[in-house]
Amino acid sequence: MAQRESPSRGTQVSRRDAKTIARIVRVNHAGEFGAIRIYSAQILVSGWFWPDCLPLLAEMLADERRHCAQFRDAMPARNSRPCRVMRFWSLGGWLLGFFTALLGRQGIWACTAAVEATVHRHLDDQLHFLGDRDAALHAVILSIREEELAHLHHAEARLHAPGMVLRSLRRIISAVTDGLIWLSTWGDSSRMADALLADRGIR
Ligand SMILES: [Fe+2]
Ligand SMILES: [Fe+2]
Repeated sequence: MAQRESPSRGTQVSRRDAKTIARIVRVNHAGEFGAIRIYSAQILVSGWFWPDCLPLLAEMLADERRHCAQFRDAMPARNSRPCRVMRFWSLGGWLLGFFTALLGRQGIWACTAAVEATVHRHLDDQLHFLGDRDAALHAVILSIREEELAHLHHAEARLHAPGMVLRSLRRIISAVTDGLIWLSTWGDSSRMADALLADRGIR
């Protein structure tokens, strides 16, 4: 199989793995952009109705902006470019942020919890895949995952026993986020999840 040099360590990775690494960077960049749009819309609505949510939302928005820039910087060395469906991430993220914020504080935190939990699961799969293939990207994702986990904990700490509407909302948002990630990686996200399960002896 054709080999390519990994940008981080000079290790050789197969052409297929190089393609997967490029897709990981692309989907993460798009996801961070989507998160920027979610938090921006929530900040807009919170400015009208829920100003007490603003400090934490602004803090998380600043994190997402930094993450987005980190993945953008990682692109050229990995032959990756911004996602072709970036417009969906942008519009979808903004609408999601806007309408969940209109539902109130609990809508905001249910949205954050759903998105961050889904993202966290995918980052785990990616870390497992990247381990011996791209150490530099692995390190970037590891540090970002810590901050995403903090976002998840912030949201969960503010969710009071969610009712059926919020539970359904969380499930829908998780499924849509999963679907977008799958589409943006051309199914590689499933392959990585399978590899992780196989490694844990679950499959
Ligand atoms: Fe992020
Ligand atoms: Fe986040």
